[in-house]
Amino acid sequence: MPDPYVESLRRGFKSRDIPGSCSIVIFGATGDLTHRKLVPALYNLFLNGELPDSFKIIGFARRDKNDQIWRSELEESNRNNSRSGHDEEKWNEFSKSLFYFRGDLNSEESFSDLKKCIMVHETKGPTFHNRLFYLSTAPDFFPVVLENLKKAQLNLSPKKGWSRVIIEKPFGSNLGTAQNLNRIVNDTFHESDTYRIDHYLGKETAQNIMVLRFANSIFEPLWRSRFIDHVQITCAEHLGMEGGRGAYYDKAGAARDMVQNHLLQLLSLIAMEPPTDLSANSVRDEKVKVLRTIRGMGPEEVRKNVIRAQYTEGTLGGKTVPSYRDEARVDPKSMTESYVAMRLFIDNWRWEGTPFYIRMGKRLPTKATEISLHLKSPPNVLFQKLPGSTESNVLTIRIQPDEGMSVRMLSKKPGTTFKIEPVEMNFDYWSSFKKGSPEAYERLLIDAMIGDATLFARRDEVENAWLFIDSIQDSWHKSNTAIPMSYYESGTWGPIEADNLLAELGHEWRPL
Ligand SMILES: NC(=O)c1ccc[n+]([C@@H]2O[C@H](COP(=O)([O-])OP(=O)(O)OC[C@H]3O[C@@H](n4cnc5c(N)ncnc54)[C@H](OP(=O)(O)O)[C@@H]3O)[C@@H](O)[C@H]2O)c1
Repeated sequence: MPDPYVESLRRGFKSRDIPGSCSIVIFGATGDLTHRKLVPALYNLFLNGELPDSFKIIGFARRDKNDQIWRSELEESNRNNSRSGHDEEKWNEFSKSLFYFRGDLNSEESFSDLKKCIMVHETKGPTFHNRLFYLSTAPDFFPVVLENLKKAQLNLSPKKGWSRVIIEKPFGSNLGTAQNLNRIVNDTFHESDTYRIDHYLGKETAQNIMVLRFANSIFEPLWRSRFIDHVQITCAEHLGMEGGRGAYYDKAGAARDMVQNHLLQLLSLIAMEPPTDLSANSVRDEKVKVLRTIRGMGPEEVRKNVIRAQYTEGTLGGKTVPSYRDEARVDPKSMTESYVAMRLFIDNWRWEGTPFYIRMGKRLPTKATEISLHLKSPPNVLFQKLPGSTESNVLTIRIQPDEGMSVRMLSKKPGTTFKIEPVEMNFDYWSSFKKGSPEAYERLLIDAMIGDATLFARRDEVENAWLFIDSIQDSWHKSNTAIPMSYYESGTWGPIEADNLLAELGHEWRPL
């Protein structure tokens, strides 16, 4: 049994070991995520020599297929989705480790057959007993899959091996359902073997936030309310309810679908205190403290600080797109928000009085996720009569699609007159490192195989995030008329009310 203290020190150094041989079981083998993200991520790990010498990927789904059919379907999707292209020879080598298992998630018998199948694979070639179960099914199936894994005793770490579970989002739809699911998860797997995915945390730039903050003395001292005027976190999407997404989305909405997980995770990375080391628990301890110190909101505060809105018909990419309520599988009287903007405060020593603005919207003019920290202006005694001199410094962290960072500062424009203009210092991965970033799922899959949960959400993080989102949802539902729905035309940057929210404190949204 490894000493947990020594283990935490070891993790603190983030050694990038090649994981031990293992079986990866993907529930939802025929689904969209498996085709577009999971298998291409595993293929790229294989190309980079990051997978163990012996690994088996067992895909579990209901449709009638065999290994050969599944492999050729995956090959087709890998051609379109692998970030480093598709090499026929390498694929053939990789795909020898792909196996299809036909089963029903509701059937105990399927799970006992699955166990036999895993055991056969474990003893072919070099023997190993490490098992990673990836729940890539609709969330309604998460409890039954966990219960059936337990009945088949697949949750138990085998002798000289481990058994771990990765759970896709959404993790619950409110605090109550998340707590229920957590009870089932923790009744089945040890918390340290549980990996709740938030793929934003696997993005290179999200991981770089800690380095930017804690390894750079030009930023570290400024990272507090004394110097930072306000922070903005924006996630813009131009997609609407394509592909039948309306059925799920109309029950969720922007706050539950994106803010509860991805945006609050980014917020906690931006606002957290330095952890004592880089072990999973130290980092997550600090993140959860941020979530606990977000100032709670009752209906009156929600009315003042949170804007909810729906898109109306408009033009995007030269095409006319329907209003949210006219989308397929959306209630024509829906009160679900396709856009949310909020102003929140973190009640701790570092951030006292600093507004954090978060916005997420669908059918916006572009697809981008960015964080910007707007610094306070210096005393304006020297350049006050010059145009442009009042603009503040802004540090921007681009999470997607074009990952990188930039700093806006003021400079004298070259010439014989004294003009001040903002200039940008830009960092992107390609220019500096001559290589692109791995896909988030690559990093997350390898971390789960190695046993490093730093980039996964812990139980208390998920529950505290829901507590905050529930307070907003409760106010909306209890005061439907007092907290109105706003509207914005598709292809624009959201409702005027969201601009007014920032204007109240003299701020404006940073254009993306
Ligand atoms: N797709 C994305 O881009 C994305 C992004 C973020 C998170 N996620 C999350 O990832 C998960 C999977 O999403 P998805 O889009 O891949 O879903 P999907 O395309 O609908 O796939 C669902 C999978 O579940 C299988 N399944 C359904 N009922 C089953 C049963 N009774 N027994 C066995 N297998 C069954 C289906 O296989 P058969 O039809 O062959 O039975 C299929 O492989 C969801 O939790 C989603 O929220 C997806």
